[in-house]
Amino acid sequence: MLTYDGDMRVLSGIQPSGTIHLGNYLGAIRTWVREQHEDAFYCVVDLHSLTLPIEPAALRQNTVECAASLLAAGIDPDKCTFFLQSEVQYHPRLSWLLECVATMGELNRMTQYKEKAEKSLGKVGLFTYPVLQAADILLYDTTHVPVGDDQRQHIELARNIAERFNFNYGDTFVVPEGTFPAAGARVMDLQQPERKMSKSVSSPLGTVSLLDSPEDVIKKVKKAVTDTDAEVRYDRKAKPGVSNLLDILAGLHESTPSAEAEKYSRYGDLKAATGDAINDVFGPIQQRYATYMADPAEVLRIMSRGAERASTIAEATYRRAATAVGLVG
Ligand code: TRP
Repeated sequence: MLTYDGDMRVLSGIQPSGTIHLGNYLGAIRTWVREQHEDAFYCVVDLHSLTLPIEPAALRQNTVECAASLLAAGIDPDKCTFFLQSEVQYHPRLSWLLECVATMGELNRMTQYKEKAEKSLGKVGLFTYPVLQAADILLYDTTHVPVGDDQRQHIELARNIAERFNFNYGDTFVVPEGTFPAAGARVMDLQQPERKMSKSVSSPLGTVSLLDSPEDVIKKVKKAVTDTDAEVRYDRKAKPGVSNLLDILAGLHESTPSAEAEKYSRYGDLKAATGDAINDVFGPIQQRYATYMADPAEVLRIMSRGAERASTIAEATYRRAATAVGLVG
């Protein structure tokens, strides 16, 4: 079996669609920031955002905003490789080779495709989306892919494609593993605490955006759905709303939900503390964000420099795969 000759090669991606929210931050981005090292690759996957209808101007704007948010949240282009997917030509090129290995049957089983198919108006790109994602991952000899729980199926598919390719054509790809956040890292919608916080599904009141004003954050947390028995206790099943606030606090304070629960006896105090904790973390990020957004060209330059570094590695893997299947060019 092919293995990566360093310790651990990490890659993850985020779509530039809409503003980053608290769920993205606690579930993924904070882990990326913590785990950045010279073998970490983080990309803004703009090609993936073409799979659902999006205005060109909106895609352009979202791309810069997403990159600026990640930089503001602490992604350091000197410590890791931070880049824009569409600037590395080997992603779509490898994706094509992998499309010729993946089967209709396995793509048909992808639940995200089924959920979003209607919105894509029958376009093929949404169907082959997970193959492009597999290319993103396999190009870098990735050993670990830190992603949210909703990506389990896509990671499994990338593994299957890598194994099949290796079996058919000889050892070419490192077979990657997903790494998933601990249960508590899953932030739920403040208004519907049984469903995940998400930029597409949730109500505006249920989602706390990285760029919300401090007043809005306080207001949204104050209006968060709890329950009527007025006891601060961690119990995700019986008390999903209260437990979500405790999970958020524990995530931000790097403590545990039960330790947080002991500090409060009233919902009002719990909510005030949660709002303040979010603002304490988001405040400095918002200041850095404003600095980056004042110079969008610099944000793009930062990503282009990352793409150059990424391309060197991606090219070597792509060539290996292309040669393996018999391409002579
Ligand atoms: N599909 C991922 C998501 O929606 C984004 C993504 C694209 C990704 N390519 C990737 C994540 C490669 C990890 C690795 O969250």
